[in-house]
Amino acid sequence: MRILGIETSCDDTGIAVYDQYQGLLANKIYTQNVLHANYGGVVPELAARDHIQKIIPLIISTLNQSNSTKKEIDGIAYTAGPGLIGALLVGASVAKSLAYSWKVPAIDVHHMEAHLLTPMLENKIVLDVPCVALLVSGGHTLLVLVHDIGGKYEILGKSFDDAAGEVFDKIAVLLGLKYPGGALLSQMAKRGVLGRYVFPRPMTDRPGLNFSFSGLKTSAVHAIISNANDMQTKADIACAFEDAVVDTLVIKCRRALNQTGLKCLIVSGGVSANYILRVRLEKMINALKGKLYFPNLEFCTDNGAMVAYAGFIRLQSGLLNNNLSIIVRPRWSLEYLPLIKKVTI
Ligand code: KG4
Ligand code: ZN
Repeated sequence: MRILGIETSCDDTGIAVYDQYQGLLANKIYTQNVLHANYGGVVPELAARDHIQKIIPLIISTLNQSNSTKKEIDGIAYTAGPGLIGALLVGASVAKSLAYSWKVPAIDVHHMEAHLLTPMLENKIVLDVPCVALLVSGGHTLLVLVHDIGGKYEILGKSFDDAAGEVFDKIAVLLGLKYPGGALLSQMAKRGVLGRYVFPRPMTDRPGLNFSFSGLKTSAVHAIISNANDMQTKADIACAFEDAVVDTLVIKCRRALNQTGLKCLIVSGGVSANYILRVRLEKMINALKGKLYFPNLEFCTDNGAMVAYAGFIRLQSGLLNNNLSIIVRPRWSLEYLPLIKKVTI
């Protein structure tokens, strides 16, 4: 079985071809970073318009790179949500139209499930379940109890306000870095002195697994406005900020594992590319003698490969959507996914 994957939930047009036996055959991404950089964040209308411009040429070049003809494609997976409505509609319309014309099924994919399944795509394994997943991206911060791969997901905690990636990006802009600034802030933090600034670890002083990053963001904003006049101070603030976000995520992961009695943790989404987060989670899991799954760096941020793979898993189990209406879900909880009965890889 060979699947074409289409990702357009935010500001990256990601296209990939995944083959059940040969694995990932092609994975191309067109990122709109330059387009949004002047605004310090994604402008939804511009994102949708740019997806329209880029999506067809990118599909053609990805199919060529994978040496696939349209006749060899058995299904078209697309991100149906959550995400920006205009951007989602571009991917969904193209996917449904191609599927209709090529007489193959279209498979609607949940963006966060696609992130969650990336370690399976890379390692060709079925993850140990039950396990806990930390999904950290620009739009979401979720702690999920994965009862079973393919739909039995229980949200243990989520952010009440900004997502972890979102605060990284906002603070990065104030530090003079380009959007999306998560990785750049982390680079800057390497030159910082830990301890000169200390920011709060929100909601770690009370029980529960939810997050709130807006207070931490405000503390960092105050420090920047009142003190950040030289590069060393900026680096020191970046270092303290990264330390606080990472510490908060690690504390909540440990708590989720303690609470559930589990020892296996999956970490995925754009912020899972953060080096300090990876090192500290590894340390925490080693102390527990548990198991930790991370995607390789290229699969942490949005990409078409994860969508093709999630679509493959769903199509394998017979879950598809032959309805011709184009429905996307900008807000869509992982808890409402149709359940896969048996996962075959
Ligand atoms: O998963 P993703 O590509 O898009 C969404 O689904 O939102 O995540 C993008 C987010 C951005 O906020 C970006 O700044 C953040 O991931 N990010 C990082 C790093 N690399 C990407 N944040 C912290 N450290 C990094 N190394
Ligand atoms: Zn994402």
